[in-house]
Amino acid sequence: NGRCVVAVDGPSGSGKSTVSRRLASALGAQYLDTGAMYRAVTWAVLRYGVDLGDVEGVAKVAGGLDLVIGTDPAAPHVRADDVDVDADIRGPEVTAAVSAVAAVPAVRQLLVARQRELIEAAGRIVVEGRDIGAVVAPDADLKVYLTASHDARAQRRSLETAASVDDTAADLLRRDTLDSTRAVDPLQQAPDAVVLDTTAMGIDDVVARLRAMVTA
Ligand code: C5P
Repeated sequence: NGRCVVAVDGPSGSGKSTVSRRLASALGAQYLDTGAMYRAVTWAVLRYGVDLGDVEGVAKVAGGLDLVIGTDPAAPHVRADDVDVDADIRGPEVTAAVSAVAAVPAVRQLLVARQRELIEAAGRIVVEGRDIGAVVAPDADLKVYLTASHDARAQRRSLETAASVDDTAADLLRRDTLDSTRAVDPLQQAPDAVVLDTTAMGIDDVVARLRAMVTA
C-alpha cells in the first residue's frame, strides 16, 4: 500500500464523485472532494452576508474560515466554523454562487495549498475536482478526465438533487461556462490525462476500468 495519487477531473454530472469515492474504497485510499471545499467557502460567504462581487471580502472570509475536511471515502464530511455543512453545501443557494467564489484567485490559492497538504498527509488518495491533474497534483500517478453528454449529466444531477431536468440542464450549462472560461485555473484536461466518456457506461464499469489502470 504505497503512495498513490489519482486525479479525477471533469464537469458536473460526469460521475466524478461517485466514481472517485468508490475507487478510493477499492484502493484502500483516502478521498478528497475539492468541490466541497469551494462549496464550504461559498456557504460562509453567503452566511456572513458578503457580496459575491466583493473580491476582497470573499477572500477574507476564505482566509478566516475554519474548514475541516474528512477524507474517509466511507464517510466524507465537511465542517465550516464548527457547523456541519454537508447538506447545505449541496443546496441551490450555494450551487448558484459557487462558481463566482471559485473564480477568486485568493480563494483558489488558499484552497489549492490546503489540498496539497491533505494529499501529502494521506499519501494514498483519490482527488476529484476541475484542476487537479493540471494544477493541484501535476505529478499524480494517474490522471483521469471524465466526461458525459450534456443530457446524461443533467439527468444524473437531477436524480441527485430532485430538481427538474430542465432547471438542472440550465444550471450545468451556466456553471460549465463559468468554470471553463475563468482566468485562473479553469476546468481543464491535463495533457497526460486518460479521457473517459461515461455517457453509456455504468458506474461499476468506470470504476473497474480505473482500478485496472492504477494497478497496471
Ligand atoms: O464538483 P462540484 O460541482 O461540487 O464543484 C462545485 C464548484 O466548485 C464547481 O462548479 C467549480 O466552480 C468549483 N471547483 C473548482 N475547482 C475544483 C473543484 C470545484 O473551481 N477543483
